Amino acid sequence: MKLNITLNGAKKSLEIAPNAYLLDVLRDLAGMKSVKRGCGEGTCGACAVLIDGRLRNSCITFAAHCEGATVLTVEGIGSHEHPHILQKAFVNHGATQCGYCNPGSLLAAKALLDRNPDPTMDQVKEALDGNLCRCTGYVKRIDAVLDAAKEMKSSREEKR
Ligand code: FES
Ligand code: FES
Repeated sequence: MKLNITLNGAKKSLEIAPNAYLLDVLRDLAGMKSVKRGCGEGTCGACAVLIDGRLRNSCITFAAHCEGATVLTVEGIGSHEHPHILQKAFVNHGATQCGYCNPGSLLAAKALLDRNPDPTMDQVKEALDGNLCRCTGYVKRIDAVLDAAKEMKSSREEKR
């Protein structure tokens, strides 16, 4: 069957199996290798992507249910040459070590800042609650998100 989605801003039409999970479609058919398989059962957040702006674990999401949706992966928010403010903040705060959890964590953080540009520490903790990280502890990435929020706020103010 065909799956039509907007992936990182580009229209895609992919031939998928009716029972394919979005994780496998994104990695194997669309080349989005930032989307990681961790637990494979919806509990670690390594595979998280934004579907129509909402954070979803792609390992338990049928691709067929995403027909017509807008899907965002980390490839769509920044690159090595032009990293997103959140990506820079993760690096600056040491919230990136093996990096396996980072794509999901970054997208969880982005979803939060898109709906709440000035979050409290508790709101950041809650937003990242579903994204496990074995390496960094959790304080560094919370600090990174709070710092990124501050930086985004001041760049908005500069543009006014
Ligand atoms: S791989 Fe999807 S939640 Fe763990
Ligand atoms: S940086 Fe290694 S799991 Fe988070």
